[in-house]
Amino acid sequence: MTTPTFSTVSIDLGERSYPIHIGTALLAQASTYAKLPKAAHAVVVTNTTVSPLYSEALVSALGARYPAVELVVLPDGESYKHWQTLNQIFDALLGKGCDRKTILFALGGGVVGDMTGFAAASYMRGVPFVQVPTTLLAQVDSSVGGKTGINHPMGKNMIGAFYQPQMVVCDIDTLKTLPARELSAGLAEVIKYGPIADLQFLDWIEANLDALLARDPQALAYAVQRSCEIKAWVVGQDEREAGLRAILNFGHTFGHAIEAGLGYGEWLHGEAVGCGMVMAAHLSQRLGLVDADFVTRLTGLIAKAGLPIQGPVLDAADNAGRYLALMRLDKKSEAGDIRFVVIDGPARAAVRGAPDALVREVIDHCCA
Ligand code: NAD
Ligand code: GLY
Repeated sequence: MTTPTFSTVSIDLGERSYPIHIGTALLAQASTYAKLPKAAHAVVVTNTTVSPLYSEALVSALGARYPAVELVVLPDGESYKHWQTLNQIFDALLGKGCDRKTILFALGGGVVGDMTGFAAASYMRGVPFVQVPTTLLAQVDSSVGGKTGINHPMGKNMIGAFYQPQMVVCDIDTLKTLPARELSAGLAEVIKYGPIADLQFLDWIEANLDALLARDPQALAYAVQRSCEIKAWVVGQDEREAGLRAILNFGHTFGHAIEAGLGYGEWLHGEAVGCGMVMAAHLSQRLGLVDADFVTRLTGLIAKAGLPIQGPVLDAADNAGRYLALMRLDKKSEAGDIRFVVIDGPARAAVRGAPDALVREVIDHCCA
């Protein structure tokens, strides 16, 4: 057994820059947190699934630096990513007398990370926070880049803020307890980085997919590192998604429609993104931007990663109409026109509109 790599990726945002530490045995080590701001209170926000697995180790490591370490345990699931759960965090912070120097730690997947980040952005107009992601999806994507928020019944991640963490701690060991379905969901966001930014990485993912599915720590550490490097490169140029950052939403326009249309939590976010990338690849082909071989290659990889490649029927009477209505609510939409992330060259993505008739063809072709 080889020793996994330890690496640090920096995200360069001037005074909001921060390190992303990637390795094993990081979470429980007090030294991991030695450079964080001092505070009277540290508050670990987690959920009912992750807490029994990792909160004791984190609380104990933080005890070396913070006089009081509190624990807030939220219900688990995308269906709880709403304002009532967010309010549970505020209730706990106020109830425990937390001041404006209090530092929050998001221990869990993207749901906990997005909600804790939003709580940190708004509690007393902003307190520091740290991401300790424990899903592959959160390690390769959601914990990095400062998008925080909650869902609204009418749209995914519609309420939120850009707010950067102080540090991200990706402890690969935590992926050992991740259910297989969640591992596959995380692979969707790993695969995403290939077609939009790095074809060599796409080759590497294809060659190492079995190792990733077998949770080989070196393969996982490299997948997390390369994904974070690409995300840091994009976010470093366009923190607030004025343009370039939108490419990170490859597959998400269709994917968010699937999540909202089925009801949050029915399909995992990564599953919806995986299937959404298949649909976006078909759209790219119909727009004449990529050839059929690209669509076949990407679809094959997504299927091999254990992800769905056929979209669900959201409305038996007018399925494409339902997708279109949901996609018009996407944050990239402009004056009601849906904007899609398409692949328009090797390792190159662009954001553009498409005629409804063409999008309908794609939906009819991809859903069953
Ligand atoms: P999640 O947070 O729901 O976690 C998935 C499941 O795994 C949950 O049941 C969780 O309790 C459990 N879990 C977490 N860590 C575990 C571990 N180590 N062992 C066992 N079980 C564990 O889902 P996710 O896929 O991590 O995140 C999806 C969310 O992230 C969505 O809400 C999505 O919108 C958001 N997201 C945000 C960004 C961003 O830039 N902020 C990017 C991508 C996705
Ligand atoms: N996950 C998309 C982004 O961070 O912009």
